[in-house]
Amino acid sequence: MAIDGPSGAGKSTLARAAGKKLNLLYVDTGAIYRTVALYTLRRGVEGKEAAAMAALLPEIHIAMQYAPGGLQRMLLNGEDVTDLIRTQEVSMAASAVATHPEVRDFLLKMQREMAENHSVIMDGRDIGTVVLPWAAVKIFLTAGSEARARRRWLELQRRGTPQDFTQLLQETIRRDEDDANRAIAPLRPAADAVVLDTTELNFEESLQRIIEIIRERTGL
Ligand code: DC
Repeated sequence: MAIDGPSGAGKSTLARAAGKKLNLLYVDTGAIYRTVALYTLRRGVEGKEAAAMAALLPEIHIAMQYAPGGLQRMLLNGEDVTDLIRTQEVSMAASAVATHPEVRDFLLKMQREMAENHSVIMDGRDIGTVVLPWAAVKIFLTAGSEARARRRWLELQRRGTPQDFTQLLQETIRRDEDDANRAIAPLRPAADAVVLDTTELNFEESLQRIIEIIRERTGL
């Protein structure tokens, strides 16, 4: 199953919940891009420098571990960076590193291997279009930019790291533009994706709709 869409549309919480319900392994591919971004930040490489970025890739070893409840933990060269990759700084850097074809190729193989070895529900930006174009179900989850910034604002407050709403909204719009306009694997719904707009739906309604869409198309 492929779930794509812009940041803050609720992909990760919904995909994780749907995975639990349908017994599918949830794979958060944004976390993989974030892990690469954290490494580049630590090495002081600007996400826009293509050659320097490509040179770093062989130094990066990424692994995923699953804690009870389907929680995906990210290991960067053996270090658990699950919480460190959730900062706004890493969000912006992830959007920049994700524009590089070298990075996308490097991560493509890893994502496909996950899908070959497990029944997955994978969320990202290009899962239905590039990573798993043969996926049985493709859902493009979206919501208005204000609704998405508001959700992120609430999430950061809950985590104890509040941020200014206006700044979050501006960053949401900028990241949307970067993700939708990049030359390689831009954010767009696959031709055969079901588009689900969650602006007016709460969590339970969205989850129910996702499960319906999956059940209509598979025997799950
Ligand atoms: O979903 P997220 O916010 O954790 O993703 C972080 C960044 O990674 C986002 O700006 C776009 C990029 N990304 C991508 O290009 N392709 C994916 N499959 C997943 C994420």
